[in-house]
Amino acid sequence: MSIRRIDQAFLLETEHTSYLFQVLDTGHLEHLYYGRRVYIGAQGEGLQALAERRAFSLGNTNSYDSAHQSLTLENICLEMSAYGKGDIREPFLEITHADGSYTSDFLFREAQISREKPAYATLPGSYSEDGNAEHLCVTLQDKGYGLELELHYYVYQECDVIARSCRLINGSESTVQVQRLMSLQLDLADTGYVMTSFTGAWAREMHRSDLPLQAGRTVNASYTGTTSSRANSFVMPSRKGTTEDTGECMGFHLLYSGNHYEAAEVSPYGKTRLVTGMNPQSFCWQLAPGEALEAPEAAFTWSGEGFNGMSGQLHEFIREHIVRGQWKKKERPVLLNSWEAAYFDIHEAKLLKLARAGKSVGIELFVMDDGWFGEREDDTSSLGDWQENRKKLPGGVAGLSKKIRELGMDFGIWVEPEMVNTDSRLYREHPDWTLEIPGKAHSEGRHQRLLDLTNPRVQDYIIDSMTKVFESGEISYVKWDMNRTFTDYYAPSLPPDRQGEVAHRYVLGLYRCMKVLTERFPHILFEGCSAGGNRFDPGILCYFPQIWASDNTDALCRAKMQHSYSYGYPLSVLGAHVSGCPNHQTLRRTPLESRFGVAAFGIFGYECNLCDLSG
Ligand code: DGJ
Repeated sequence: MSIRRIDQAFLLETEHTSYLFQVLDTGHLEHLYYGRRVYIGAQGEGLQALAERRAFSLGNTNSYDSAHQSLTLENICLEMSAYGKGDIREPFLEITHADGSYTSDFLFREAQISREKPAYATLPGSYSEDGNAEHLCVTLQDKGYGLELELHYYVYQECDVIARSCRLINGSESTVQVQRLMSLQLDLADTGYVMTSFTGAWAREMHRSDLPLQAGRTVNASYTGTTSSRANSFVMPSRKGTTEDTGECMGFHLLYSGNHYEAAEVSPYGKTRLVTGMNPQSFCWQLAPGEALEAPEAAFTWSGEGFNGMSGQLHEFIREHIVRGQWKKKERPVLLNSWEAAYFDIHEAKLLKLARAGKSVGIELFVMDDGWFGEREDDTSSLGDWQENRKKLPGGVAGLSKKIRELGMDFGIWVEPEMVNTDSRLYREHPDWTLEIPGKAHSEGRHQRLLDLTNPRVQDYIIDSMTKVFESGEISYVKWDMNRTFTDYYAPSLPPDRQGEVAHRYVLGLYRCMKVLTERFPHILFEGCSAGGNRFDPGILCYFPQIWASDNTDALCRAKMQHSYSYGYPLSVLGAHVSGCPNHQTLRRTPLESRFGVAAFGIFGYECNLCDLSG
């Protein structure tokens, strides 16, 4: 058993780590330990050595209540915390109750240990093929208002990963507003950590930043509506001095593809709190009596063998417990993508010429990128109108894919289902299907708007139109792109008091579309993409087994980025292509051998005009 209840304590064990917490007599969950595996006897021997002793409340901190004068929530390690009862650090949740109060006090009610990994109602999750994930569910109840909070823990013993998620249930008689619901809180009893995160921009993804955690809060977050190239949701807190092969470090993943938030807070009393979850910025969820809200799953690991040790554990976790479906362990075909070879200027004859050149050097999958539908000559029109352009493809997608198959290659296609150009039939017919504030000027990005994926009718349109595209020819690969970040957050389909739900409801709508389509087309190899790596996360990887890592295909830049990605993600999920020379993004000239060598680390393909190459 990897999960044990020892009286009032819960011990979670992986091969090399232990995670321990206990229920205090007040009902709060005190976190005791996370790190190298320690011996805890069957009767709890060794446990109390890890528990902090408290004699009095420090300075001008507040006691929890008159019966517990020495207990100040501001200075203990907790499994979850809320505002209002003395803990003023970064909270796990924030709720405004019907009476206007925003104090919550969640106390232990019951716990269950089982061997199951049920699917979440609304979100993707990790899974275990052999049913070997043990599950602990701790239910807490709010003392003042009756809401329930389930804390779920799943143990993946062999890869030293623990996954956490939670579910808030409104057991009260009034609607409440949830302003924050995190996925993970980890309180560490000391300080001296370094927070490593990966920031960037378009074509500059995954720049590593190592920030020693000082007093106060350090935040890594996204507000682009996506995981974002500005700040990936993967972070790795470590002890100062950790190297690739030595020292203690942790890795935190969030299975989520929208606005996320990772914060560290070093308290004046020498403790460090880490939280990860959905970004509380502008988040406000109306939770009616009887309703539940799920928080995305967060997965984390600890290693005493430096960053390499931590990475190996997360790689195994993503390969075994995140990536799924027919392509999970299948070798991926070497592809040739038309984007950097032709951009929007595509035509059947030109594509076939490129494909023939590809075939002659061993290409196995030919992919037609952007430009094949509607009146699309550049990025100003036609997104949303998913009908093939007969001037460019006289035989349609069916005709082209058949010819490609006859050449002995598989055929793949590019789509951007979540978007619409204002210059499109779809926008003219459904101007209320986009995220925009009615009657107000809209900020622009790549001449396109986000479809309102909070609206089930729009989700159905995406599912239906993509089904038609995927059935329109012999398609065995799909590149699912998403090129615009969010502005003017507003869903016309939702009432004013639900606009704080837009960002999360969009992600839930997206997941529904991806789930239906990947289940409907299990043989198709899907590759996620978002202006390169603007949505690179384990949430997407629960549906699509690979993601295009960056629009920057320069070998030198890519070597650095791929190295950064590799801290949290196995290279088996990362698309990498050999591109032309000079490189289209940096104009740098690099030898073909270098471009090949760097791309060969990832899911290998070509992204250049092979007709131009000699020899
Ligand atoms: C952005 C992607 O990252 C590129 O690879 C390409 O597919 C373009 N979009 C097409 O518009």
